[in-house]
Amino acid sequence: MSVVIVVGAQWGDEGKGKVVDLYTERADTIVRYGGGANAGHTLVIKGQKLITRLVPSGVCHPNKPCVLGDGMVIDPRSLLEEIDQLQARGLLLNNELVVGQDAHVILPYHKRIEGVREDRTAGAIGTTRRGIGPAYEAKVGRRGVRIRDLFRPERLRELVAANLEELNPVVRHLGGEVPTDAEVEQWIADALAAGERLKPFVRDASRFVVDKIAAGKHVLFEGAQGTLLDIDHGTYPYVTSSSTIAAGACQSTGIGPSKIDRVIGITKAYATRVGGGPFPTELHGDAADALRQAGGEFGAVTGRPRRCGWLDLPALRLGVRLSGMDGLALTKLDVLAGLPEVAVCVAYKLDGHELDELPTDLDDIARAEPVFARYPGWASLAGVRAWDDLPATTRAYVEQVGKLAGVPFYLVSVGPDREETMVLRDPFAA
Ligand code: IMP
Repeated sequence: MSVVIVVGAQWGDEGKGKVVDLYTERADTIVRYGGGANAGHTLVIKGQKLITRLVPSGVCHPNKPCVLGDGMVIDPRSLLEEIDQLQARGLLLNNELVVGQDAHVILPYHKRIEGVREDRTAGAIGTTRRGIGPAYEAKVGRRGVRIRDLFRPERLRELVAANLEELNPVVRHLGGEVPTDAEVEQWIADALAAGERLKPFVRDASRFVVDKIAAGKHVLFEGAQGTLLDIDHGTYPYVTSSSTIAAGACQSTGIGPSKIDRVIGITKAYATRVGGGPFPTELHGDAADALRQAGGEFGAVTGRPRRCGWLDLPALRLGVRLSGMDGLALTKLDVLAGLPEVAVCVAYKLDGHELDELPTDLDDIARAEPVFARYPGWASLAGVRAWDDLPATTRAYVEQVGKLAGVPFYLVSVGPDREETMVLRDPFAA
């Protein structure tokens, strides 16, 4: 039995979907633990593209239970749409789907206030506008609506009314439109109808996962977003509103840290970021465009072009520390093919000191100067399936990155398809 957490080591979009999909072959149960429909995991299976937002990417494997943990914020309508789309493609027909009864619900007013804030306030975060932040705000403000409230019409009504009483003046103040009574009635009716459809899946997710672990099953936890977007440890305030680091898996799902056997961080061979916030290794102009096109770096949820730059090892080391990563999966190595040289940030200089981790304070990041190492590039990696088939320059690059990150590689990916993967270690091995 092994319990493995897969976590993004950068600002999200590291290719977690593909890695989770691969690891699911060895897992019995897959658990998504944070965020909501702000995530978009792109999978390519036999050339066909599939994007999951809420349901764990392991859904492509029949008969494997998929769990949505209590720490998630779930838009019931998005979830139903996703279930319908997956089932239309012949997926999620035999999988047991478990939706945590204590997960919080995203309602249209969360999206509305987020949109108004993003449009009208200075220093917008550049969120995905899926209502994630406002739903987590309501949760910690102890006025949130939970999945279990979708089965209690009176309670739902009271909660919605109490939330709107607080939010409407803010929306008005920011120049937004408050909902009409008819709109609110419709929102409640939609939420109740969605609750009815979701009811068969809703249960005590913590109990479900803990029982699987106790029964000796392999359990895979799938993180969303990435380390540097963590609410506590990321580049605050340019972060998401949940715990994206490995500890979030325990917190969100209601399992103890003693149950975790291994943590694998996912990093691309370069870096990207969507939305605002610091990104010291960012490239601009033609160099960024080339990387964006080669890597298809456009948001899976919002379609926004992703900001692109060189791999940031001090940021990766921060991720290794924060999540206690045992190893890394390196993705999109093929995207760098054709470049005459590949750069990597190996340290930062700040106030005459060399830092081996990215500082997280925005002012420090602004003043810190990245130190780059440069490596010779490589030609196409098409058709490469084994470590020994990699060009010598590529192997040297990967070895150097692993050495500087301080943990071994478990997997190296050279293309979007399942077959374009070199598995170097088994995360589920005892
Ligand atoms: P939110 O999660 O929608 O509140 O957005 C907060 C920040 O996190 C924004 O910069 C988003 O672009 C970023 N973000 C949220 N989810 C993802 C993701 O899955 N991949 C990459 N960036 C994300």
